[in-house]
Amino acid sequence: MGVLISPSVLSCDFANIQRDVEMINASSADWFHIDVMDGVFVPNISFGFPVISAIKKHATKPLDVHIMIANPDQYIEDFKNAGTDILTVHYEACTHLHRTVQAIKAAGMKAGVALNPHTPVDLLQDIIADLDLVLIMSVNPGFGGQKFIKNAILKVEQAKNLIHRHGSRALVEVDGGVNMETGKELVEAGADVLVAGSFVFNSPNPTQTIAALKGL
Ligand code: DX5
Ligand code: ZN
Repeated sequence: MGVLISPSVLSCDFANIQRDVEMINASSADWFHIDVMDGVFVPNISFGFPVISAIKKHATKPLDVHIMIANPDQYIEDFKNAGTDILTVHYEACTHLHRTVQAIKAAGMKAGVALNPHTPVDLLQDIIADLDLVLIMSVNPGFGGQKFIKNAILKVEQAKNLIHRHGSRALVEVDGGVNMETGKELVEAGADVLVAGSFVFNSPNPTQTIAALKGL
């Protein structure tokens, strides 16, 4: 299986969301990456349930929802109802992470955990067997278009090791500053899924850019 591509709709044109969703449907992308920010856990506010539901209406591929919010437990059912397939919470936002992960799965979604750039991969050792996805942040969460933090490459290798050691089936996804160069290094390090926002949507031909990433 080649690398999976999850274009981040945070960088799409919100006045033409149906058009951009259809572009992703027709492209070689695998998932839709959807960034929810609450202005509390991260210093930015993006969008919430009505926008996710609107995307779901047109999307023909799984919704990979990355929630950068405080108190995620409160909204698990709402994310399911809005059409989420994979729900990724932040390690740093969850006091009772085991309970949160079980609740996500009980609601019928796949469960992911995201790690901020400063959070060590090893902290996942007692939950890794339960996870479907580990999301390595290669920028500080909150904004698209930031510079890639190189240490993420090492963290991908560490996450793959942890997964193998514990017999976990989790995929390793990387989010932030992904382009052809950083994407290539991440794939070589073992990344299973690449998120790309500004690199796709600011390019002259987003469909071709997705295909180029998919070919890495
Ligand atoms: C950042 C978000 C990312 C963002 C990536 O907090 O989690 O998904 O959209 O954007 P680029 O690819 O532009 O770094
Ligand atoms: Zn994201």
